[in-house]
Amino acid sequence: MQDKPVVIGVAGGSGSGKTSVTKSICQRFSDKTILVIEQDYYYKDQSDLPFEERLKTNYDHPLAFDNDLLIQHIHDLLNHKSIDKPVYDYKVHNRSKEVITVEPKDVIILEGILILEDPRLVDLMDIKVFVDTDADLRIIRRLLRDIKDRGRSLDSVIDQYLNSVRPMHLQFVEPTKRYADIIIPEGGENHVAIDIMATKIADILSKNKENSLNKSIEK
Ligand code: CTP
Repeated sequence: MQDKPVVIGVAGGSGSGKTSVTKSICQRFSDKTILVIEQDYYYKDQSDLPFEERLKTNYDHPLAFDNDLLIQHIHDLLNHKSIDKPVYDYKVHNRSKEVITVEPKDVIILEGILILEDPRLVDLMDIKVFVDTDADLRIIRRLLRDIKDRGRSLDSVIDQYLNSVRPMHLQFVEPTKRYADIIIPEGGENHVAIDIMATKIADILSKNKENSLNKSIEK
């Protein structure tokens, strides 16, 4: 393990393809190299609220996230400590009781709609990426995914999109594009962009390795 893990932020609107971009990057490295941390898993714990109330939460507002815990966990990983990562269940709109203990790796990919909205998180990132996909494609993907995987009805997805996802995207997500080092149009299908990212990551890793070797020789 090298001196300091590399932190890469992958932001972008809901349904933009952050997960595909992240998966495509991971596929280019060994399983031991990249750890993925999803901001979604750090939604605030809502165990004290009944299900009906949790349905009303605005999950696209920055205040829905427990960024304090997320930041603490990134710091721990940067200091080579393991973390107890929360697990999120979209069907019940809450964290599960279980946590997963994960060990630090050389590269940490932090993925989520609002990771570039909190300057404390931005400060921890070495590379910032924004996946930029047109709204029509994002809503189609979201409809298909939420109905298939997240236990939602067509009406509820449309309702949520118009009342919170879209306005919050325009207010909070889209403006963070300006903080990105790289803007990737059309997400996971953009193989050129993925290749460029993978090359950059490999370059940073080999430079870090060289630096650690030099340091150990100097000692
Ligand atoms: N969300 C929800 N219900 C919850 C918690 C979150 O509907 N209980 C929704 C929020 O409305 C938010 C979205 O989850 O817009 C965030 O996930 P999203 O970015 O769509 O999924 P990813 O797989 O992380 O990203 P991508 O679709 O870009 O691959």
